[in-house]
Amino acid sequence: MSQTPPAPDAGLPTAVTEPVVTAAVTAALEAIAAASSTAELKQVRISHLGDDAPITVAGRSMREVPKEHKAATGKLVGESKGRISKALAARQEELTAAEQEQALATETVDVTLPTDRRPRGALHPLTTLTDRIEDFFIGIGWEIAEGPEIESSWMNFDALNADPEHPSRSLQDTLYLAPEDSGMLLRTQTSPVQIRAMLERGAPLYVACPGTVYRADEIDATHSPMFHQVEGLAIDENLTMANLVGTLDAFAAHLFGGSPVTRLRPNHFPFTEPSAEMDFRCFSCEARLGTDHDPAPDCRVCGGTGWIEMGGCGMVHPDVLRAAGVDPERYQGFAFGLGIERLLMLRNGVADMRDMIEGDVRFSQHYGTEI
Ligand code: DAH
Repeated sequence: MSQTPPAPDAGLPTAVTEPVVTAAVTAALEAIAAASSTAELKQVRISHLGDDAPITVAGRSMREVPKEHKAATGKLVGESKGRISKALAARQEELTAAEQEQALATETVDVTLPTDRRPRGALHPLTTLTDRIEDFFIGIGWEIAEGPEIESSWMNFDALNADPEHPSRSLQDTLYLAPEDSGMLLRTQTSPVQIRAMLERGAPLYVACPGTVYRADEIDATHSPMFHQVEGLAIDENLTMANLVGTLDAFAAHLFGGSPVTRLRPNHFPFTEPSAEMDFRCFSCEARLGTDHDPAPDCRVCGGTGWIEMGGCGMVHPDVLRAAGVDPERYQGFAFGLGIERLLMLRNGVADMRDMIEGDVRFSQHYGTEI
């Protein structure tokens, strides 16, 4: 009967006596069975198998067990420890599986829930329209040129043949930079890019120059102190106003579809001679009534006139060519300029300039990426 544990009175330390060890195993098994989570089971392991646990104390007391009892007592303690460890491992497995199942059930992804994706931005319709304008000019073989928004008054006025008394030079129209004699201003038009392009690239030359311009205006439904223009300039031998009209006709068709036609009315600009105001035949009336009809009297685009005023144009003044180092005996040129905000308002039915400035992304979004 070597399995029979020694009697408590056999000179054994109390910690390894059979009732104490058995009680330790019973308490441990009960605690293991009662643990309802892996976290709780961790605590149970510390209490029943840790440094201060009765079974561990029993193991340490083996040193004091008399020789003749060592085998039987050691076996009892070892087997007890084994039972506790085994029960712990089994319960650990059970609880881990249950917790994983629980996690899978609660962490299910509901693909029907609405997303909280961040709203996307949008290109401003002025950008999209400017791209469309550039596409036209690139398509007919012209280059795109840009210039600085802070400009010298020589580039903005003098080189463009503006008289020293020209009204556009006044403080009411032009934003000058301090100090007063700096000779610098915020350009009031994209026309100085004509001068820069001629000076930098020479003739012959075909450029379109889109950009931001500034004027001392209050913001209202049709004005803003900062807006955009595009300038066209062609310099070559043998250019005439017929080339200008042909270019504008093709440009109008690109912008408005259909077959809009350009009409020129006499006007005056210091940098062109002759100068003209350019009108495009109303695309809206044409779309509604065809080309053989009078304009619609109730047209919201042209107001019943049948024409929309687009900007200025003319043959480049010989003094302007000279100022930009181009020989007017050999080269002629035509130029035109128009406001992009105004174009967007007419073409896309924007009623108020302020909608373009306020930066509400919903305004841009409804134009999409192609206008
Ligand atoms: N720079 C003029 C303006 O801001 C527009 C303009 C008129 C440009 C006639 C031109 C032109 O190139 O030939 O009002």
